[in-house]
Amino acid sequence: MAWENLQGNSLPRHIGIIMDGNGRWAKKRGLPRSAGHKQGAKAFREISAYCQEIGIAYLTVYAFSTENWSRPQSEVDAIMDLLRDYLAELEKHSGQEEGVLRFIGDKTQLAPDLQEKIRQVEQRTAGRSGITVNIALNYGGRSEIVAAMRKAAALAAAGELLPEAIDEALVDTLLYTGGQPPVDLIIRPSGEQRLSNFLLWQGAYAELVFMDVLWPDFTSRTLDEAIREYQRRSRRFGGI
Ligand code: IPE
Ligand code: IPE
Ligand code: MG
Repeated sequence: MAWENLQGNSLPRHIGIIMDGNGRWAKKRGLPRSAGHKQGAKAFREISAYCQEIGIAYLTVYAFSTENWSRPQSEVDAIMDLLRDYLAELEKHSGQEEGVLRFIGDKTQLAPDLQEKIRQVEQRTAGRSGITVNIALNYGGRSEIVAAMRKAAALAAAGELLPEAIDEALVDTLLYTGGQPPVDLIIRPSGEQRLSNFLLWQGAYAELVFMDVLWPDFTSRTLDEAIREYQRRSRRFGGI
């Protein structure tokens, strides 16, 4: 299999993917945008299974940003319904196939039924071995940092944290991804070349790979290509 070629080199421990281009994929086919999101959800299933198979430890996918609420309500509803379908499907699985599933972002703004299903799936999959998949939903890097600052301020106000004890390691633990390694590789399909508020802190030294493919067309072969590109990069972290 092609992925065996990837194994000799160091694999990224943590991959982030901005799942972009669903709307354009649908438009090209004369379909409603929701059809693009549906196909995008399929691509996500394939890619998360593939990451598990090749031994990626952490995968974070950007599913819905704090800014995506500005879309038409019908589109927001369609995306949330796809998420409902995914959560319902997961309930039927009894095995370990998805690894640990976590949702990162401000969950309090989601519909109550979704919050409950998310809580259940996080509880059910916690402690599994294998991959950890973070689904970034109502996620924004800036709001994540604000939430971390609030937590620190609350601890300080309660007399449990001294300002001089705030360091990078502490901030890290206060983020939604607390306890997880930084992201090594951020992939953005669809041709756009920006972060759009994704993993601002965790991606400080991420290698960025921008690809022209639209997310619904993204396959395991496309991921291989992105990983190979990552393996060609020289990561210096400020050194020489
Ligand atoms: C990404 O695809 C999915 C979400 C942002 C929810 P888009 O819906 O942004 O697709 P384009 O960028 O319009 O093609
Ligand atoms: C980023 O894509 C968010 C997700 C993929 C969930 P957008 O389509 O929302 O980003 P912009 O608007 O092109 O920056
Ligand atoms: Mg987009």
